[in-house]
Amino acid sequence: MQQHLIDSSEAALASVALDPLGLGTGTFEVRDPATERVIATPPDHSVETALIALARADEAGKAWARTTARHRSDVLHRAYGLLVEQRDRLALVITREMGKPLAEAYGEVQYAADYVRWYAEEALRPSGNYRENPAGGSTILTTRAPIGTTLLITPWNFPMAMATRKIAPAIAVGCGAVVKPAALTPLTTLVVAEIFVQAGVPEDLVQVVTTKNSAGLSSALMADGRVRKVSFTGSTGIGSVLLGQAAEHVIKSSMELGGNAPLIVFDDADLDRAVEGAVVAKLRNGGQSCVAANRILVQDGIADAFVEGFAERMGEAVLGNGLAEGVTLGPVIDDRAVRGFAGLVEDAVARGADLRLGGAAPEGPGHFFEATVLDNVPAGSEIANTEIFGPIAAITRFGTEDEAIERANSTPFGLAGYVFSESIDRAFEVADRLDTGMVGINQGIVSNVAAPFGGVKASGLGREGSGEGLEEYQEIRFYNLARRGRP
Ligand code: SIN
Repeated sequence: MQQHLIDSSEAALASVALDPLGLGTGTFEVRDPATERVIATPPDHSVETALIALARADEAGKAWARTTARHRSDVLHRAYGLLVEQRDRLALVITREMGKPLAEAYGEVQYAADYVRWYAEEALRPSGNYRENPAGGSTILTTRAPIGTTLLITPWNFPMAMATRKIAPAIAVGCGAVVKPAALTPLTTLVVAEIFVQAGVPEDLVQVVTTKNSAGLSSALMADGRVRKVSFTGSTGIGSVLLGQAAEHVIKSSMELGGNAPLIVFDDADLDRAVEGAVVAKLRNGGQSCVAANRILVQDGIADAFVEGFAERMGEAVLGNGLAEGVTLGPVIDDRAVRGFAGLVEDAVARGADLRLGGAAPEGPGHFFEATVLDNVPAGSEIANTEIFGPIAAITRFGTEDEAIERANSTPFGLAGYVFSESIDRAFEVADRLDTGMVGINQGIVSNVAAPFGGVKASGLGREGSGEGLEEYQEIRFYNLARRGRP
């Protein structure tokens, strides 16, 4: 590993202001998943301090809501510039706390900054409507107002992009925010919030509350009455608990929850494109993404060639510390994940799956698991019914289009799906029949700041990114304007 990168990453970690709220009491440990060493001890905020943070964000939000769209846009444009300027610092912090290879961390910095630039632009396009009362006598005008103070709960897998995907639209429309990052990766969010302040975001507007007691803080914040919107990215289990609390207090919710993405390769697919797309859909972020290809379904005629090409490309992944040169597959987040993967592979093989690549967890320190390919995975195996969230590909084969669609939809989840076929008719027909919020056609990636990211069924509610993502932070108001002289 290059010493200068270790030194720069230490400097980047040391630069993180761990308690900008100045309210911290106890602390908790954040560890580097590649070494298991403690890299920071941020404050473990209590319910009491979280409520102080909420009061500050709420107060600052009231003033911010009265600023002009042009001002908010300019601040976000400046934030975009500063995030990109400080990409080295951000990428190093991401790699150290989350583990992804440095090149991918740079990719996340740009992806995350792009949300800020997108919402700097969207801030200037507030939508409204004008309509005549069909019975006459009045005109109906609709506007969109900032919803109020928001609670943004972000996951560990994309610590920067999931933060900006929520914070930027909230700021763009005029809302304050309490952000609660995952306890495993709170440092990136602290840097992002610091940079927003450098760009001109009022100091109290975005409050980052680090804690180990996520459940306790979220429920207290939602019960307080000042939170008008909760946006959460994480598991369906936690999402449905939050939805219950949101229902009790009638809080608007966006939930980006679990996935179980099918990736379907038809006989008429371009083989190279399908292999490349599947590798990206599987190994991006080490498979630790809710849109990762979870079930790879391959039609009989192309299956042997696909499995061979795919296993070869997966075998090129270089496993190691994300700071090391040439590494393309970093550690997974913790030891529990490693044990889970080992169990899934063991169960699938015991039930008759063919292990084509990998399958093992190298010795620590660090939480590593090899890029793994399982072919002919039996329907009853655990891996066929689990969100894997790691670098293991589970392949099954199918005969007909109907069979593929039926299998693809046979899950409570519906976040993303992928279709590979050179027939435009078939690709669209199958995409239309998939019960998912997003479909990648002939490519293994759906994420884009201009696209509405989100799922159906147990994968969630609402959309993030794009214009639709802005509306999640607004309320519709209408004015009923009496019109003299109108029938
Ligand atoms: C996620 O895994 O939660 C989000 C991934 C993305 O934005 O691509």
